[in-house]
Amino acid sequence: MAAAPGRRRPLRAPLFLGVALFLGVAVAVDRSNFKTCEQSGFCRRQRSLQPGRSPYRALLESFQLGADSARLQLVNEVTKVPLLLELWGLQGNMTRIRIKELNPLRPRFEVPDVLVAEPPAERLEVSGREEGSLELALGPAGHRLLLTEKPFRMDLLQGRELLCSVNARGLLVFEHLRRRRDSFSDKVSSSVGSLWERIKSLFHRDPPTEPPAEEGAAAEGQEEAAAAADDAGDPSEKPTETPADTADEPGSWEETFKTHTDSKPNGPTSVGLDFSLPGFEHVYGIPEHADNLRLRTTEGGDPYRLYNLDVFQYELYNPMALYGSVPLLWAHSARRSLAIFWLNAAETWVDISSNTAGKTLFGKLLDYMQGGGETPQTDVRWMSESGIIDVFLLLGPSPQAVARQYGTLTGTQALPPLFSLGYHQSRWNYQDEADVAAVEQGFSEHALPCDVIWLDIEHADGKRYFTWDPTKFPQPRAMLESLAARKRKMVSIVDPHIKVDSGFRVHTELRDRGFYVKTKDGGDYEGWCWPGSAAYPDFTNPEVRDWWASMFAYDRYEGSTENLFTWNDMNEPSVFSGPEVTMHKDAIHHGGWEHRDLHNLYGLYVHMATAEGQIRRSGGKSRPFVLSRAFFAGSQRYGAVWTGDNSAEWGHLRISIPMCLSFALAGLSFCGADVGGFFKNPDVELLVRWYQAGALQPFFRAHAHLDTARREPWLFGEDTAALVGAALRLRYALLPYWYTAFYRSHRSGLPVMRPLWMEFPEDPSTFAVDDQYLIDQALLAHPVTEPGARGVQVLLPGQGEVWFDVTSYQKHVAPQTLYVPVTMSSIPLFQRGGTVVPRQDRPRRSTECMHGDPFTLYVALSPQGTAEGELFLDDGHSFGYAAGRFLHRRFRFAGGSLTASSADPRGSFSTRSWLERVVILGAGKPASVLLRPANGSESQLEFQHDAERSVLALRKPGVGIGDDWAIVLR
Ligand code: NOJ
Repeated sequence: MAAAPGRRRPLRAPLFLGVALFLGVAVAVDRSNFKTCEQSGFCRRQRSLQPGRSPYRALLESFQLGADSARLQLVNEVTKVPLLLELWGLQGNMTRIRIKELNPLRPRFEVPDVLVAEPPAERLEVSGREEGSLELALGPAGHRLLLTEKPFRMDLLQGRELLCSVNARGLLVFEHLRRRRDSFSDKVSSSVGSLWERIKSLFHRDPPTEPPAEEGAAAEGQEEAAAAADDAGDPSEKPTETPADTADEPGSWEETFKTHTDSKPNGPTSVGLDFSLPGFEHVYGIPEHADNLRLRTTEGGDPYRLYNLDVFQYELYNPMALYGSVPLLWAHSARRSLAIFWLNAAETWVDISSNTAGKTLFGKLLDYMQGGGETPQTDVRWMSESGIIDVFLLLGPSPQAVARQYGTLTGTQALPPLFSLGYHQSRWNYQDEADVAAVEQGFSEHALPCDVIWLDIEHADGKRYFTWDPTKFPQPRAMLESLAARKRKMVSIVDPHIKVDSGFRVHTELRDRGFYVKTKDGGDYEGWCWPGSAAYPDFTNPEVRDWWASMFAYDRYEGSTENLFTWNDMNEPSVFSGPEVTMHKDAIHHGGWEHRDLHNLYGLYVHMATAEGQIRRSGGKSRPFVLSRAFFAGSQRYGAVWTGDNSAEWGHLRISIPMCLSFALAGLSFCGADVGGFFKNPDVELLVRWYQAGALQPFFRAHAHLDTARREPWLFGEDTAALVGAALRLRYALLPYWYTAFYRSHRSGLPVMRPLWMEFPEDPSTFAVDDQYLIDQALLAHPVTEPGARGVQVLLPGQGEVWFDVTSYQKHVAPQTLYVPVTMSSIPLFQRGGTVVPRQDRPRRSTECMHGDPFTLYVALSPQGTAEGELFLDDGHSFGYAAGRFLHRRFRFAGGSLTASSADPRGSFSTRSWLERVVILGAGKPASVLLRPANGSESQLEFQHDAERSVLALRKPGVGIGDDWAIVLR
């Protein structure tokens, strides 16, 4: 949460909010704290350019084909500044396009540490050349890239199908680096003084006096402008000294927002490019926004903004920036999926337009029947404040392929320690050690499973992270040991703002080593945050990350033990006293880069360094658990993320689904939302529904603001505790499935929580669904998110498929929209016919207590009488799995037999877990059931058959869960 505008005393925040909450005052985001596109200089400049008048020409004569890439120059015919375009056809059906300045005045920022490796490239070939165009063949999938000289444009085709056009609308923008005008004004003739005005009148919308120019006139005008530029010298020879095309635009060399002035020593540096996607009507991704899963067109409003910000009381259904950013946009149609990955860490805006927006289905149908109607098309335009253009086109063609492609670029979800998939109990704050003990005991007494208790900022001594409040938490080690004895863990918060206090060792070390982010004038950058005056370690510096990681050693983080894990909050970074509640853009990082260049990376680096610290403290053996609020592309490699400060409102419960789904599409599978809502007090109904929904989301943590009423589940009476308990037990019973899903995601890059269209890509009825989703492939969840609900409408997709209600075992034929009546205990969840879901049904206190428990297999038969599923098993906490200490089992049902075999022979792991039960859904009654273990023996199994529901339950097969065996129905 952020401080109210202009308020310099963060300690008042709870007070203010407490009063507001008490009075029931509706508190909502103060939009005036955050920029609109119009208030963001580069966004305004770029957005005012008119499409169709690109000044860029590709110099085909400069084309060079290297071993695995091609390069050529582009030139802005107005400024004459040359750019270098590089192209790669990457293995696995991806294309990379990079555009930089050919001779920049200074280096421009290129995003490091996000790609896991330089992606291997395919050989490129020139497959055609004509006057004014050139065609490249891009590897084995038959993709071709058609390069047009003037105006510069690229069309990516597969066969005759156009997949994507780049700069088709002529919105390529590259504000080249330049010297400030007054420093070389003696060189610049007055004839160029009004250059910007003239260019503007050519390229900008709504010229003040003249009507829009005709194409020819525009071209003429461009020549004039180019001539004017030429008059100023020979800019193509000395591009860096060219007078700016945008240099005189207000806000180019200094920009003021509210009370903050951004000094912009490098002047205007933005980049932008447009992509046209014929055949696509649905686009997704680019988290984080509190919006529908399917992105909207942004015409007439602001573009979606990607700029990691601490937004106090965020609003729903708008494109404002939030805590994290992943510049990955998906496009999906019934024919194919693709994605655009815009690798830029500066403030970024994304405009989306579509030629079908606003048309009703009927309208589209009418177009179609009249034999016409345009091909649907979505146009996407990216605008970033600095850096270079570095874009990956992930060409699918299936949604699974796109997810894999993104995983090969930025890495896959880290395999979480098993405990972290259990339930987390948090609030701001558990008061002291006695409070922690009482909460722990409450869970035990009410037989509610819980793995982790969390401590927020009040646990530290005066918000000095890595310390403990000596009065409230005098014996942290003993507290942690007593939790460990109950097989539970703890998470403490460690924020990246460090109290400026010469008596605080963490601060003095950072200061003395010069490890803080610097101001533009070279001093340590200081801002206001929870501890009061705070400085910010420069996590972009590998030495600083190394130092930070070392702080998690047991002897440096005193009182910490191996069951203590970490929460990184406020890492956008949040600076209460800064512009838009974050760091000044002209602050300076390692290597001399401005904060502007890498803002969206800061949170990722904090997360990275903390995860590294946890690995290191274990001597490299244990997997870390770190929750982060800010994120960027690649953050999935370091742990979990959540949706920040939501509110105890039904709308916030509902939006947790599309928000986590869009995180998932961007590789961030380990996502959750504060269960119960952070601000305000949920009523019992909302709280129960939130637990039920949270139990089916990847990261499952209840959390609440300091000023909210306590809400441990038993405080609402026995009935509520029982309802919450049932949701928790469902979560724990399904943990083997969740854990296996995370392992699969870790290996493949496919998300754990999936939009329906990922599994049913050809079914347009799934494309805009965001109140239900799949967990991996087998389970379909539709939590109740409406107050007073008596039923939910569940879309069961899949022609010729069947779904089984997980609670009643009732079978439903798909496709259909099923009305499911609900009571307060209902958690609508369906298992897809054709799948096997492993469960551990014995209720326990925590995941650690489930170790060695037996398994039940739920086999849901397809209409063809088949099913398949997997189980991943290891010690749950170490990296041993990477060295082969794991079991990956496959279960298959076909021809009346269920068989267990290894899904991956590289793994072995010994376990005492065994198979307790098999429940086969959709099965007829057999005459007998035989168990055939691998040792060749054979025995009869007892069974029960429920003819009405076609459920066959096999009692105690008793085989080891890691053994090969067959169960034969006769
Ligand atoms: C903001 C976080 O989003 C919230 O979860 C936390 O409780 C407060 N900061 C205090 O640390």
